[in-house]
Amino acid sequence: MANSNLRNLPAWSALTQHFSELANIPLRQLFADDPQRNERFTVQALGLYFDYSKHRITPETVRLLVELAEQSGLRQHIDAMFSGEKINVTEKRAVLHTALRAPKGKQIFVDGVDVVPDVHAVLEKMAGFAEQVRSGAWKGFTGKRIRNVVNIGIGGSDLGPVMAYEALKNYSQRDLDFRFVSNVDGTDFAEATHGLNADETLFIVCSKTFTTLETMANAHTARKWALQQLGDEAAVARHFVAVSTNRVKVEEFGIDSANMFGFWDWVGGRYSMDSAIGLSTMISIGPERFTEMLSGFHAMDEHFRTAPFESNLPVLMGLLVVWYNCFFDAQTVAVLPYEQYLKRFPAYLQQLTMESTGKQVTLDGTRVDYQTGPVYWGEPGTNGQHSFYQLIHQGTKLIPCDFIAFGEALHNLGNNHHDLLLANVFAQAEALAFGRTPEELRAAGTAEWLVPHRTFEGNRPSTTILAKALTPEMLGKLVALYEHSVFTQGTIWQIDCFDQWGVELGKVLAEKIVPELEAAGEPDLKHDSSTNALIRHYRSLRGTAK
Ligand code: F6P
Repeated sequence: MANSNLRNLPAWSALTQHFSELANIPLRQLFADDPQRNERFTVQALGLYFDYSKHRITPETVRLLVELAEQSGLRQHIDAMFSGEKINVTEKRAVLHTALRAPKGKQIFVDGVDVVPDVHAVLEKMAGFAEQVRSGAWKGFTGKRIRNVVNIGIGGSDLGPVMAYEALKNYSQRDLDFRFVSNVDGTDFAEATHGLNADETLFIVCSKTFTTLETMANAHTARKWALQQLGDEAAVARHFVAVSTNRVKVEEFGIDSANMFGFWDWVGGRYSMDSAIGLSTMISIGPERFTEMLSGFHAMDEHFRTAPFESNLPVLMGLLVVWYNCFFDAQTVAVLPYEQYLKRFPAYLQQLTMESTGKQVTLDGTRVDYQTGPVYWGEPGTNGQHSFYQLIHQGTKLIPCDFIAFGEALHNLGNNHHDLLLANVFAQAEALAFGRTPEELRAAGTAEWLVPHRTFEGNRPSTTILAKALTPEMLGKLVALYEHSVFTQGTIWQIDCFDQWGVELGKVLAEKIVPELEAAGEPDLKHDSSTNALIRHYRSLRGTAK
């Protein structure tokens, strides 16, 4: 693995020089100069058409970025991850979400133990349970079948399940209602359970640690809510199951370990949607389709592990992020799915990317002297076009975009909805790249005073990803694409993509503040003047100040 400072790598210096030569060349010219540009910068693999020709790159840029990846030890780092080395150095853990989708018979060792049989044992247990709920064989405490499934979790224990449920709703069993509770704000629980009967409701409490404040608060509230209606502790066994790595805490909560689905410390929360954390997904779409999703993940894993970097989708995607982030000083990446079912995909990616690459020191603790993770954000198209696209087109910030679209509509309404949708995604990428010049506007008769307002500079980069249809398998491929893009970025930046120490401090301070909010008398506050005043003002608003 590389241990040299990123800025000292020969490829970094070469890219710095190359950037100064390329920075002012518009995409219009790059396309005009190279009739083969589209073929040169399009990769087709695993059913994905990945067009990155509308990026501010030349073949030399790609050559140098690939050199940067090689000099950063990306190949060795990939091998280290796939073989179960403890590459999460600050937590001394292997990083093996790829083992969650490894086919039966493959061997992957952690501390000398092959983990693949354990993965498949949990998948089988999940499948058995999912089938029982789907068929109605699993009965609630009063003998009724389950109609509602409520997933309680937060972060990776919520965002993956809710994103996958929404993305694959078209394949879900529609006589089951799925709801998701994450926020400690009581509104979330109240609204998620609104109108539900406890005797038809199953709670899946998802928490890797089974100690997370929000999830535990919501799980206890759920138990109270269920027992108020069902009136007997014995009902918990029929209405609560847990997904966790922490058997002791699950049992302490009162959930029988027979109703617990396990996973392992080598699965990071934000990389866990294909572990038992995906139980709600499996209940929704069924074990067979869940297996298809896993095979999509696995296909992308194998592509990432084996394809040459020049035609490796996650590597190219990750290198482009590094290119804009570190050389063009771009602060964000917009993910713009032209598929309504992917409406929670950007939110899911926010944790995956930003909890992974939001780091300020390298693996050995040295402060970085370059930019690390960009902000990811986005909304489905075409909605975003009538909201924030204005800024992407004519604002002062450079925002590389990922457009994602599919050839087949999942709902054919007998008219041209899908053509309208696809025409828009192509038009947006075209407008961003090539803009509209003052000369074109004048030629079209635009009044001179309006010309500056109506000019589109263009030269705004984007990738367009096209696939046939949003299936479970394709969702697996897309998620793994972004997972490994993040891995590529983190390897170049020499950071630990698998820890999340940055979420700790707020948790510790909140624990200290809770008793101060709830104290009967005037608490002795020792925070800064702003925090002290906020606490006092809240207490007065709430009507508890003495
Ligand atoms: O926000 C920090 C975090 O640890 C995430 O990484 C994780 O996905 C989330 O909290 C939930 O954790 P758990 O699954 O242990 O409840």
